[in-house]
Amino acid sequence: MVILREGICPGINEDFIKALQSENIRTVEDFVSCNPEELAQKCSLSYKALVAVRRVLLAQCTAFPVSGADLYEELLSSTAILSTGSPSLDKLLDSGLYTGEITELIGSPGSGKTQVCFSVAVNMSHQLKQTVFYIDTRGGVCANRLLQMLQTRTPNMEEQMEALKKIKVFRVFDVFSLLACLQNLRSDGLQKASVGGGSVKALMVDSVSAVLSSMLGGKQNEGMSLLMQVAGEMKMIAKDFNIAVLVTNHVTKDGNGHLKAGLGQSWSHVPRTRVLVQKVENAETPSLRTATLTKSSRQACGLVEEFDLCHWSEERSTSISGKRKLESSKP
Ligand SMILES: Nc1ncnc2c1ncn2[C@@H]1O[C@H](COP(=O)(O)OP(=O)(O)OP(=O)(O)O)[C@@H](O)[C@H]1O
Ligand SMILES: [Mg+2]
Repeated sequence: MVILREGICPGINEDFIKALQSENIRTVEDFVSCNPEELAQKCSLSYKALVAVRRVLLAQCTAFPVSGADLYEELLSSTAILSTGSPSLDKLLDSGLYTGEITELIGSPGSGKTQVCFSVAVNMSHQLKQTVFYIDTRGGVCANRLLQMLQTRTPNMEEQMEALKKIKVFRVFDVFSLLACLQNLRSDGLQKASVGGGSVKALMVDSVSAVLSSMLGGKQNEGMSLLMQVAGEMKMIAKDFNIAVLVTNHVTKDGNGHLKAGLGQSWSHVPRTRVLVQKVENAETPSLRTATLTKSSRQACGLVEEFDLCHWSEERSTSISGKRKLESSKP
């Protein structure tokens, strides 16, 4: 999905964009799926101009083959890799969370998914100075815990407050409000946040399964349709705004008793990377966890790393990637 912006093709200027936005047309897909004749009447743009722009956009955005070299160039120029703050997790994720993609944390209740999300959010807001949008579907966001994590990083209260301000929490408790929240972010919220000088690089949804799992099953297709809409919105947000999306999901067991991601087969294709978080049984340190890579297009699945929920920021990062890693403290 490509956002319509000035200069994307000849004839698209600021006034043109504004006129289209007044009709809620924001993406190339929105535009090309409209009837130019009706559009010309509604937003007082010339029919001829609309048809000309439509033709160019259709030619520009239809699937032309792209070489591997072009894709690598695109990766270097547009993809940022956001450190999670934990060297072990960064290693597992091939340097960190990639913008433009959805990464999923799965695990049993209490395994530490939410704690990992908090740690990542704190690292992004404090270390990377980026705004994080956090959609909380379980009422699990705990400001005290976020502050506690920040206090281990800096004794400076101003710095702690600045970092807390950069974590914007949305509370939603059903799939319809999740969908509405994602749609608002895509159509308005993320643009406003960027225009306001902030830089949003990450969106977290903790958890997707809490609002989706009860809608699935049975004979009705409504749940599946909602799941695909949620997936579509998240993918568009990741791609259109070049944002790293991190979601959490529960686990179920397959026929052999192995843990697998919840929400079924259709959902399993949605995240590009999936990490299973598990408590280390009988460990001396109760906060010790393992992270296992169960889906990735970059690294071998089955890789396992250990990390400590309570000593996240005390690990020292050593991983260096040739790709564009977002520098700490740069806005
Ligand atoms: N302040 C804290 N200090 C250390 N450990 C904590 C703290 N708060 C919670 N924990 C630990 O984190 C774990 C809970 O993790 P978390 O809530 O992230 O699980 P979860 O995977 O998100 O579970 P659910 O699926 O129910 O949402 C517990 O083991 C708890 O002991
Ligand atoms: Mg949780």
